[in-house]
Amino acid sequence: MDEGYFPKLLQRLCAEIGAELSFEPEFGRAGYITFANGSRRFFKGTNLDLNGSAAAQIAQDKDFCAKFLRRAGLNVPEGQVVFAPKCVAKWRAKNPGVAARMDPYGDAMAAAERWGFPLFVKPNEGAEGEGVRQVADEGQLCAHLDLLYQEHDRVLIQRPAEGDDYRIVVLDGEVALAYQRVPLTVTGTGSKTIRALLEHRAAELSTVGRQAIVAADDARVVAHLAAQGLSMDDCPGPGEEVRLLANANLSTGGAVVDVSEHIDDTYTQMAWRAAEAVGLRFAGVDILARDIAEPDPDASVLEVNSAPGLNNYAAFSAQAEERVSGLYRAILAILAEDPEAA
Ligand SMILES: Nc1ncnc2c1ncn2[C@@H]1O[C@H](COP(=O)(O)OP(=O)(O)O)[C@@H](O)[C@H]1O
Ligand SMILES: [Mg+2]
Repeated sequence: MDEGYFPKLLQRLCAEIGAELSFEPEFGRAGYITFANGSRRFFKGTNLDLNGSAAAQIAQDKDFCAKFLRRAGLNVPEGQVVFAPKCVAKWRAKNPGVAARMDPYGDAMAAAERWGFPLFVKPNEGAEGEGVRQVADEGQLCAHLDLLYQEHDRVLIQRPAEGDDYRIVVLDGEVALAYQRVPLTVTGTGSKTIRALLEHRAAELSTVGRQAIVAADDARVVAHLAAQGLSMDDCPGPGEEVRLLANANLSTGGAVVDVSEHIDDTYTQMAWRAAEAVGLRFAGVDILARDIAEPDPDASVLEVNSAPGLNNYAAFSAQAEERVSGLYRAILAILAEDPEAA
């Protein structure tokens, strides 16, 4: 079995209800649960047999997901997909007419001309903040496209949304938990370099059970610092805060503020409408808003996650862990009883 948080949690919850958990033996990442009534439900990573597979795939494709969200009347940052040269080459063989309309760099430049900078550039089907970068000019845009086009067929260029970054986890219309995510930041001492401060922060996070974050010479950090006119060798003054990444994912060292008990009802509605718009019963809805305790007409939905990883949030406090356990207890109860669940 994988030693991660989620397999251990499943094991504990299954034992509570007398369900049997079977893992694929080599990697222990996938398996199935056999409930006391004999029914069997599969899982892979944090994907469970609760959400429909097409709904989960739509959510995973950020551009598709945004189209469904917009159609449901939700605010979503404007974005455009651009296609990697290797993807255009594949299309040229299959359908030259489609390929002729794809211009990997020209389409990106046209979007930048339309919207101006800064822009967010990311893999269209990414996760955990991988490859997410804010770019400030054409040079940075092209450099980041070069990098992403090596690995990804589709890249999303997106206008920045204003506000703090919140994740609201919903199950069948109810909010199970909500937290703010603050991008990886270090606080200056006047004598330590940003590199030393980052190493210290990484060590601090790993002692509280958070997964490994970014390496000291991580290209994303170097680029984000450069955009602020800083380098790893600079020493910020005492108390000076330096943001190291443009993205707030917990998997890249973001900090948690638990807001489960402070969320205004407009966001409960918004999160559930977002989950419903892509057909998900269980979802982690990422919302950018000024303050989650107050309605904000400009708040937007950034993305919807069909299998939200909650390990980093659970490591935040005993109460957070209890909320995550309670949530999965409820999910297992649905999977055990509900013939429509799959
Ligand atoms: N358009 C945007 N406006 C503001 N922040 C953004 C935008 N796109 C990404 N971010 C930041 O980057 C993070 C990761 O982006 P996201 O699209 O959720 O990718 P991933 O699937 O890798 O989590 C967001 O949670 C947010 O902090
Ligand atoms: Mg995200």
